Amino acid sequence: MGMASNARLADSFRALLPGASHPSASPSSFQCSFAAPFSFYASNPRIPQSSLASSSHLATTPWFSHPILTETTTPHQRSFGSSIRAEKAASSTALKTPSVSAPSSKKQALIDTQPPRGTRDFPPEEMRLRTWLFNHFREVSRLFGFEEFDAPVLESEELFTRKAGEEIVGQLYNFDDKGGRRVALRPELTPSLARIILSKGKGLSLPAKWFGIGQCWRYERTTRGRRREHYQWNMDVFGVQGVEAEAELLSAIVTFFSRLGLTAKDVGFRVSSRKLLQDVLGRYSIPSESFASVCVVVDKIDKLPREEIEKELGALSVPPEAVTGILQALTLKSLSGLEDLLGADSDAVRELKQLFALADGYGIADWLQFDASVVRGLAYYTGVVFEAFDREGKLRAICGGGRYDKLLSTFGGDDTPACGFGFGDAVIVELLKERGLLPDLPHVVDDVLVTLDEECRPMLNSVAAKLRAAGRSVELVLESKKMKWVFKRVEQVGASRLIVIGSDEAAQEAVKVKDLATREETLVMIKDLV
Ligand code: HAM
Repeated sequence: MGMASNARLADSFRALLPGASHPSASPSSFQCSFAAPFSFYASNPRIPQSSLASSSHLATTPWFSHPILTETTTPHQRSFGSSIRAEKAASSTALKTPSVSAPSSKKQALIDTQPPRGTRDFPPEEMRLRTWLFNHFREVSRLFGFEEFDAPVLESEELFTRKAGEEIVGQLYNFDDKGGRRVALRPELTPSLARIILSKGKGLSLPAKWFGIGQCWRYERTTRGRRREHYQWNMDVFGVQGVEAEAELLSAIVTFFSRLGLTAKDVGFRVSSRKLLQDVLGRYSIPSESFASVCVVVDKIDKLPREEIEKELGALSVPPEAVTGILQALTLKSLSGLEDLLGADSDAVRELKQLFALADGYGIADWLQFDASVVRGLAYYTGVVFEAFDREGKLRAICGGGRYDKLLSTFGGDDTPACGFGFGDAVIVELLKERGLLPDLPHVVDDVLVTLDEECRPMLNSVAAKLRAAGRSVELVLESKKMKWVFKRVEQVGASRLIVIGSDEAAQEAVKVKDLATREETLVMIKDLV
């Protein structure tokens, strides 16, 4: 039986590699068959797959490079495309999968294989990129001493229904659950974070530095980098009043960009403070209750015609002369200009100057620029606000954040100073693609294990268990396959070793190990195998 299986294997090698010869080649020798040259060694060196390893499958099949989706596309036209094409391309070289014949005579119509509009699938080749990105998010958060949190994607609707006219509220995925409760899929993490902080009460030791990575849902018009679900990395600090916290957050984001190979030439931050607007509004005696709503309108300044902005501000009892004052203040691009307008005593001026000095200390000053037009569209910000943008101006905001010292009181709690940012997973990948910085992340396993004799399978399984216990990733060939198939598989998964057990080897409590980098093949006792 053993001789027969080895002979089979040898035959397979010969069939695969016509003309291959080796001194030890012999039809009944397993060893000789392994000694044949494999062209894929050179083309497929094993790349260690550390969680943060860099990689080409993905460079050609990104989950972020889906064509812009429009409301008019059909389900099939709105295919995210790249992954489907990639799968087709992959399947042309892939191994045949067994066909399962259904007993029924009538075939069901194919379901729509696309995910809901504006959402994404993450098949493995795209999941690898997501994991790579999230590992960087986590690692940067760890470097800054932040702890991870999460919350349910489904929350009470009231957590998100603020009344300041924010776009995000109109984009809620909200509905009655089966118990008649109004619920919503979270459009952002901040309200859930605030809820958890509130639930901890006085037991929470401050400052609390928390980070989260979670899926958020917004019923948006989908464009490049904006979709109906996205993942957001958030870092937030509760309990620190000064801009030291904002400076730390900005430094964390720059650390992240730098790890990915982006520089201050690629990305910049526009930084301002809502206290600037507060000062200006104070001059026109506009009541503080209108502040959040005014900020939300002012944030739309680039999107709406001036008349529309004036109309919306008028509806908030902002007089025309105040509108002019606000719009003028928003054109400021220098801190000295801001100081001229508001005076050196203004909180906005003082804090922004301090923030830029702190940024200098971190060595990140060249990433930042003061820009009074940054207001941000969320109602809860009260102080410093910032957004990162690509310097070529092709993409939407890469991330954004700011100080929100009053959010807890809107939930009935005691105010606690807080600031943070949200960083989406879509725009950053678009940017990496633009800059040729996408990593190459192949699927890699350490060992492929195969038996030539089904009677040896229990022993093969014990070898697999032993290797896995030692931390090696093992792809076990689960069915009886031809060696041609096995070699394709080895190539596909970039294995560093092929381990084969036939009845001859089993009789000796050994396996044949082919090192796919050196092409050396050895007989190794199972007890010595590592
Ligand atoms: P945001 O500006 O609404 O802020 O979102 C933050 C980031 O999430 C954006 O800069 C973008 O990267 C990403 N993002 C938002 N919407 C989408 C979308 N539809 N598709 C893809 N990516 C998107 C917030 O959410 C605040 N809660 C951030 C924060 C945390 N502020 C303080 N702490």
